[in-house]
Amino acid sequence: MKFSFDDFDFSKFKWSDIFSRGVALPTLTIGSKTATVPIVQGGMGVGISASRLAAAVAQEGGIGVIAANAIGMLEKDYYKNGIEANMRALRSEIRKARKATDGIIGVNIMVALNDFHNMLQVSIEEKVDIVFLGAGLPLKGIPVEALRAANVAVVPIVSSAKAVQLIFKFWQKKYNDIPDGVVLEGPKAGGHLGYKPEQIDDPAFALEAVLPTIVEAVKPFAKELGREIPVIAGGGVFSGSDIEQTLTLGASAVQMGTRFVATTECDADEGFKQSFVDAKEDDVVLIKSPVGMPGRAIRNQFLTDLENGAKKFFKCPYKCLASCKAEESQYCISLALDNARKGKMNHGFAFAGTNAYKIEKIVSVKELIAELKMGYAESCETTFTRIKDEYAVAMERFAEVKQEYGVALDNGIEALKTEYDKISEMGASDYFDDKIQALESVENLKKNYAEAQEYIQELVEQMQLFMDNAVYE
Ligand SMILES: Cc1cc2nc3c(=O)[nH]c(=O)nc-3n(C[C@H](O)[C@H](O)[C@H](O)COP(=O)(O)O)c2cc1C
Repeated sequence: MKFSFDDFDFSKFKWSDIFSRGVALPTLTIGSKTATVPIVQGGMGVGISASRLAAAVAQEGGIGVIAANAIGMLEKDYYKNGIEANMRALRSEIRKARKATDGIIGVNIMVALNDFHNMLQVSIEEKVDIVFLGAGLPLKGIPVEALRAANVAVVPIVSSAKAVQLIFKFWQKKYNDIPDGVVLEGPKAGGHLGYKPEQIDDPAFALEAVLPTIVEAVKPFAKELGREIPVIAGGGVFSGSDIEQTLTLGASAVQMGTRFVATTECDADEGFKQSFVDAKEDDVVLIKSPVGMPGRAIRNQFLTDLENGAKKFFKCPYKCLASCKAEESQYCISLALDNARKGKMNHGFAFAGTNAYKIEKIVSVKELIAELKMGYAESCETTFTRIKDEYAVAMERFAEVKQEYGVALDNGIEALKTEYDKISEMGASDYFDDKIQALESVENLKKNYAEAQEYIQELVEQMQLFMDNAVYE
């Protein structure tokens, strides 16, 4: 349905129809794969999102993601054969997830990992659907041909439009190809953050501010190569209403981590999940990570000890992260995260997004997705009602202004203007002070008329956008 200001007829709109049909979440296509629900479960290490959580999300129509970093900690011989254990564990988790569902399964790999290429190789061999590449820019040495041959889509995780341009230009030049989508991870996310500490609360770096710039940044590449490049945005997305707002800003999907921790299927111990339920707003804090990036986590005794300068003993099995200064480090992040995964919260801590304190209980992935779908539909209805109401008020005001303007014209004030111009040319303008006022009032009416017209046009455009984006059940 195309709206135009001139022939727009309010009564043509079947609001009730739209409400009774309900609004469904749109689908998400990345490369050749289509998820029926535009929700990517963010990869969560160490072992927080393994096969069980990823399969459950994929089964509900979203994209389930296994986190590759230090996944070998799920194996017994990690401290002896770190790299081998990582590869074995990743392969095993992918296979378990594949066995459990036909849905879309991805793997999250940190570019900063020393065994990044091994993890990528296993993902290619196991033909996962998508690899999400974060914590560093996937530039040199990406086996693009092998990824394409195995039909593995590639989605970098970024925090700025500059990073998008850098990656996409590099790929175009070096590989004559481009990635299949982008994840924008905003500063409210849990886990390591791709921002300087001072940027985290700066509104210029907020998800809402950066998202439209990323949507613009991918457009020329999408156009040039004739491909869709979905932008997936996350960090602080908690409710169906947050999903609606994020999609309205141009995202094709959302990435969510925190909400998926508090699910029955999350691979972490119950103690880890419970720390989300128990967290208060003040407990969600920023920490310095040995990786060299800030991170967001739930404050506990372990973190307080570190803040007070404590050094936690550890034996570095192998330098898993290129940027980690293990010898200078107060603690081993992989070990701390793995302890937390096992529920040993005194010997580790839980990464969490800003909204973790809003978690009230543990639910199944099925319940969570159903709640988000419902919240999204309700939020769409609210938006729709708001536009509809604003539109009705604006139309009334417009009718008034239009009439006032019309009456003024009918009264011949326009004719007086011509007369005034003539007489003022002759130097008798003083005499026409009262006529000037009349003219000014016409100008004002004209301005009001134009403004009302513009406002209505804006509302019609909002409505148009809403109708274009909405998917009706
Ligand atoms: C416990 C936890 C562990 C995480 N681990 C990783 C990780 O290993 N790699 C990564 O790229 N992102 C990681 N993240 C970030 C998530 O993938 C996701 O982008 C983020 O949680 C989204 O923000 P939200 O938690 O507010 O929904 C982690 C987040 C959490 C909560």
